[in-house]
Amino acid sequence: MNQKTQVGIIGAGPSGLLLSHLLHLKGIDSVILEARSRKYVEERVRAGVLEQGTVDLLSDTGLGDRLRREGLVHHGIELRFDGRGHRVALSDLTGGRSIWIYGQREVVKDLIDARLAAEGTIHFEVDTVNLSGIDSSSPILNYQKDGRDFELNCDFIAGCDGFHGVSRDSIPAGILRTYHHVYPFGWLGILAAVAPSTEELIYAYHERGFALHSLRSPEISRLYIQVEPDEDINNWPDDRIWQELSTRMATEDGWTLETGPVLEKGISPMRSFVVEPMQYGSLFLAGDAAHIVPATGAKGLNLAVHDVHQLSEALIAWYREGSDEPLRQYSSNCLDRVWRAQDFSSFMSLMLHRYSDDDGFRSRLQRSQLKYVCGSEAASRSLAENYVGLPHI
Ligand code: APR
Ligand code: PHB
Repeated sequence: MNQKTQVGIIGAGPSGLLLSHLLHLKGIDSVILEARSRKYVEERVRAGVLEQGTVDLLSDTGLGDRLRREGLVHHGIELRFDGRGHRVALSDLTGGRSIWIYGQREVVKDLIDARLAAEGTIHFEVDTVNLSGIDSSSPILNYQKDGRDFELNCDFIAGCDGFHGVSRDSIPAGILRTYHHVYPFGWLGILAAVAPSTEELIYAYHERGFALHSLRSPEISRLYIQVEPDEDINNWPDDRIWQELSTRMATEDGWTLETGPVLEKGISPMRSFVVEPMQYGSLFLAGDAAHIVPATGAKGLNLAVHDVHQLSEALIAWYREGSDEPLRQYSSNCLDRVWRAQDFSSFMSLMLHRYSDDDGFRSRLQRSQLKYVCGSEAASRSLAENYVGLPHI
């Protein structure tokens, strides 16, 4: 069966859904093709830190109601090492900017609700999505749904299908340059039904490895510990995880970590990945399809939001004014912010994780850096402005 739309979007993660929403607000039609079910996409546990700019964009486009009701605004984070906590006063150091705690799955639910309320088209559980004609101005998406074949004719295709999607690999060989760095550690993350033992996020550096205390709500905590990248989750019964978290986050004044039932647990690798350029012909890549950052800087979701905001503006300029310059600038505009986030995420990762091959040299540099970041206003401000998101990159 043949269909037509202006922008064909692959993937109903935050990138694809937000792009579709932003285009709809300007009267541009799109269709989203998603391999998974609605339930799967809505329940996937992912990141939870929104930069000020992300919150502003969601609020300005009608997606701020539940976020402002249920999200938690944070004005600082804690760096903990040698048994002591040091607060980085994010808002004081950045002229009042802050971060918000609101799970990616809540953002995804709000976006799906908004798209469906506006009668937007999202085809869940599609198979074998295939791109053709991306070097022309009339690209085509072929796919199957419920065993039937469909053809979707588009003006543009947005590849919002994450790191493992099909769109990036549809670009002919020799066009993209890929940058990939795999860090020698992974994160074991848990979601737990227990009130957070802290009001602000704690990033802890410890000789046994990094630990992070984050949260999702006043009743739900999100915690992580550094593990080997190929670690088997079966080696980590809940008691062992709690024990390790308590040890790594212990303070000399006896701070206690409250424990509770573990709702979810999993291990993720830490990698940096970028492709350049983020465009070929009428195909534009956005979000995890084009770049991955290690989670230490909490930037993945925010970068995805920045990409699709840029892309929506460029598409709007094309449809309204016939101007293709913003589309041509799309990749370089995004990559400036992508590399800033890569550098910041790498800085946080290198400062906070233990390296198994360390002979004492690296850990001394790390301690010195932590003391500098906490003791110098210039260094704290640099961390703070990157963490809350630089407004002009
Ligand atoms: N066909 C259709 N859909 C696909 C295909 C395919 N071949 N391959 C992948 N998808 C879907 C996935 O099922 C997923 O729902 O594309 C979606 C991509 O979503 P995300 O992986 O969440 O990527 P993105 O929307 O760019 O969001 C980036 O996710 O991983 C986090 O830290 C990251 O927060 C950031 C955010
Ligand atoms: C999270 O809440 O999941 C989270 C917070 C901060 C990070 C990474 C993940 O740096």
